Amino acid sequence: MQTKPHLQSIVILISGGGSNMAAIVRAAQKEAWDTHYGAQVVAVISNKPDAGGLRLAREHGISTAVLEHGAYGCRDDFDQALAAAVARYDQPNRPALVVLAGFMRILTPGFVAQHAGRLLNIHPSLLPAFTGLHTHQRAIDAGCKYAGATVHQVSAELDAGAILEQSVVPVMPGDTGQTLAARVLATEHTIYPRAIRNWLAAQARA
Ligand code: GAR
Repeated sequence: MQTKPHLQSIVILISGGGSNMAAIVRAAQKEAWDTHYGAQVVAVISNKPDAGGLRLAREHGISTAVLEHGAYGCRDDFDQALAAAVARYDQPNRPALVVLAGFMRILTPGFVAQHAGRLLNIHPSLLPAFTGLHTHQRAIDAGCKYAGATVHQVSAELDAGAILEQSVVPVMPGDTGQTLAARVLATEHTIYPRAIRNWLAAQARA
């Protein structure tokens, strides 16, 4: 896919299967975000070379890059390299929107501050409940009747930025972490593209 110089760049960061990334790319194409919101998914960056999402991105003709966090001496060095990789897609006076889609790295306060207001994440729980890992099993163990997912702005504190969208999924008798995760993931594919679309629309109005 050719990068068009006048469009708002969207850069998606992944670590794994990339199903949210693929849902966002599909929505961007189906809903013509380039025409309606002046935006385009231009790159997918993974911190893992074997992330399945990389192949999916290439199938959609999107540029991919791998930055292996293990190759960097410390968290700051990795985040600086990541910031530089993202900045390649900034437009003049229009920095890229950075979308974390199953990106399993905690970003440094420096990276977060540099991308404040244009750094989104999806987390598989009804925040502020169950920040961190193993969210589905923890929701089951706590006896929750409902679980879900949250799209939020990223702030310096883990999984704590302003909430943009949530989906609610009933916890069924007999659910395991895996069965619940699969049902929650299906809803993520709806709320994440919607949150990004709303973010783009708000930018266009600003
Ligand atoms: C998604 O469930 C996402 O919410 C979660 O990882 C999965 C990635 O799936 N993210 C986190 O847990 C971040 N703390 P995907 O690679 O198929 O989009």
